[in-house]
Amino acid sequence: MPNTEKEKLMDKIVSLCKRRGFIFPGSEIYGGLANSWDFGPLGAELKNNIKQSWWKHFVQNREDMVGLDTAVILNPKVWKASGHIDTFNEPLVECKKCHQRFREDALEQKLCPSCGGKDFTSSRPFNNLFRTFVGPTEDASSLAYLRGETAQGIFINFANVLNTERKTLPFGVAQIGKAFRNEVTPGNFIFRTREFEQMEIEYFIPEPKKDADWKNWFEYWQKEIRVWLENAGLDPKKLHDTEVPEKNRAHYSKRTIDFEYDFPFGQKELCGLAYRTDFDLKNHEQLSGQNLKYKDSQTSKEFWPHVVEPSFGVDRLFLAILLEAYVEDGERVVLKLMPQLAPYKAAVFPLLANKPELVKKAREVFDILKPNFMTAWDDRGNIGKRYYSQDEIGTPWTITCDFQTLEDETVTIRDRDTTKQERVKIADLIQILGDKLLK
Ligand code: GAP
Repeated sequence: MPNTEKEKLMDKIVSLCKRRGFIFPGSEIYGGLANSWDFGPLGAELKNNIKQSWWKHFVQNREDMVGLDTAVILNPKVWKASGHIDTFNEPLVECKKCHQRFREDALEQKLCPSCGGKDFTSSRPFNNLFRTFVGPTEDASSLAYLRGETAQGIFINFANVLNTERKTLPFGVAQIGKAFRNEVTPGNFIFRTREFEQMEIEYFIPEPKKDADWKNWFEYWQKEIRVWLENAGLDPKKLHDTEVPEKNRAHYSKRTIDFEYDFPFGQKELCGLAYRTDFDLKNHEQLSGQNLKYKDSQTSKEFWPHVVEPSFGVDRLFLAILLEAYVEDGERVVLKLMPQLAPYKAAVFPLLANKPELVKKAREVFDILKPNFMTAWDDRGNIGKRYYSQDEIGTPWTITCDFQTLEDETVTIRDRDTTKQERVKIADLIQILGDKLLK
């Protein structure tokens, strides 16, 4: 796709998101807040569906996984032990002409994106952790940080999980939640923001005796990540597993693979996989003085398990899923979302809104479906416009009550992708939609 087309595609996605209630600019009524976004009614549904699908797949369907939901503001010592206070830095430079600040490695051709200036201050490390103060005083004793990754909430609860769940290695702990980073150069819509959501797994494995012991688990998770991404509807050809060289790896990682996706603005990181060794548990034990070792029940040996960490960004996935689903088909814009992820599974219409008997019947069908599936009601405009409107938000099946419905208790179901219609009994609708969703 030529660059101008790619730019247009991003503009179309941003506009669709605003127009149909997927994503609104943050704090809009006050002129906005740079790079902040609010998820609207349909965006909240799609985002929840992505998270639920991930949680079901990686936590509920597996015996070796449990989940947590930990605090956003942690004791600042957590970030000391994790290394984030000392090393979670970006190289910051300032344009000497307009005094705007940028990430040095994000500057193209050493030109200021704001004024075109070429003269910059020398680079200095800028810490990405978001600072806040706990309580009424604002001094060093009340300084705290919003979490920069959900992972640390898992590490600091390792002993609690062991004591309550009695898990034996290998096992994983997952968490979905907000993370905050004071990014120097956010941008590309919801791709890089200062407040975002992560879905992370810390997978604890026995202390490796040889490299193969962690490498096998690393490769196992590499495959698992790919399977899930493809099941979420992403084109395998647009996904790239990229080995991250040592100099670009996070301080805790002995090996990292980024899963990159072909976004319209370039091949960029979607999610990552890191081998964090025993770095986190060891450092937390040393700073907290609490035992964070695992005791092998056979040998009674105590050790810090090692960790392989698949880490997904919800917002980046949301964007990739939307981009992948967006199709223009003549006059129609269709979001070919996986039905499981679509905000509405079905929409119900009366063929004509001015025929009370049709509206009454369609309402009965709507009332049957609503408690079972996320279902929309629409009786505005003509039927063609309603179909187009549902196609544009990805509703996989639209159900119409017409005059035949009044005679034989049947309705038509129209398929979003093929636009084909079939006639079915109202009494079978729940079963039919349930079966389609399982496919
Ligand atoms: N616990 C490991 C960790 O946080 P990371 O590569 O820094 O690793 C993991 O972040 C994922 O979080 C990324 O792959 C990306 O999807 C998402 N992410 C990171 N920073 C982000 C930002 N500023 N805006 C949106 N998503 C972000």
